[in-house]
Amino acid sequence: MARLQLPATQPTTHPLLTHVAHQACRTTTSAAVAITRSAAAAEDHELLAAAGDVDMLGELSVPDRALLDRGGLVVARDSASALLLLGEGAIAWGTLTLLRPGMRRGRVLHETLDDLATLATEALRAAEAERRLAETLEASVGSLATLLGLRDGYTGRHSDTVVDLCEGVARRVGVTGAEMAHLHIAAHLHDLGKIGVPDQILHKPGPLNDAEWSIMREHPVWGAQALEAIPGFKEAALAVRHHHERWDGTGYPDGLAAEAIPIGARVIAVCDAYEAMTSHRPYREALPEPLARERIVAGTGSHFDPAVVWGLLDALASGSGSP
Ligand SMILES: [Fe+2]
Repeated sequence: MARLQLPATQPTTHPLLTHVAHQACRTTTSAAVAITRSAAAAEDHELLAAAGDVDMLGELSVPDRALLDRGGLVVARDSASALLLLGEGAIAWGTLTLLRPGMRRGRVLHETLDDLATLATEALRAAEAERRLAETLEASVGSLATLLGLRDGYTGRHSDTVVDLCEGVARRVGVTGAEMAHLHIAAHLHDLGKIGVPDQILHKPGPLNDAEWSIMREHPVWGAQALEAIPGFKEAALAVRHHHERWDGTGYPDGLAAEAIPIGARVIAVCDAYEAMTSHRPYREALPEPLARERIVAGTGSHFDPAVVWGLLDALASGSGSP
């Protein structure tokens, strides 16, 4: 007899699915509702959304495995019984019984449950479409990152490291949800525009002169121009454009200051600088991490957002997001 396996924490899921779960819980006066999808492991069912007393759902047994395999909506009507609706337009339902002594079967509100199943079906389809779009975007990021790595191996590796650090720091300064997704893309591709920088500048084994710097400083603009043409990448393009701005307004390309700089760009600026300082380059040794931290702190309020610097120090102290 299959059981509904619940993760230790609530899943991050499509908002429409969560809405349907709450609506199902409310309209059926259920103790708990879960929207599930069958998983690869025989005894597992992926929890897509839940509402109500989620702990109670872990006690459900599923007598008809075939129903749940097709994806469905589990409605725990009260503490004694539960109903299962299929995700494909409420074509069937079954009664589930909790593994507790003295349980009784609940009554079925067919029309309400049909409506809820239809809603759940639509929500599942919307979530699936969103998942496919996210996969496409992630694959696009991977392709562009590969291209950047082929053009300049150091920049490619550097960008990969900056991603982990950026995400750890961003969480600490309150970046969540879609903003975090945009930051993920921007962190991977913040130096994409370096593809347009000539070899003799990009690979110069020493400090750049003024003329070379003026070309190198175009890379945030070129990277942003490449990304903003892709639907879904517009916010990431903004972070890429502004990742060399400075908190005091003396950065480039637009001289934005303080919170006028997108938060993603402020996070990348700090993590990019720290990661670059602690990396070995042909023309200089890597700085020891304590010295790099000191230099980042010295730039607080002039070069860097103080809150983001705190986020970096906290991430490094806890060992999470460390390069
Ligand atoms: Fe850059």
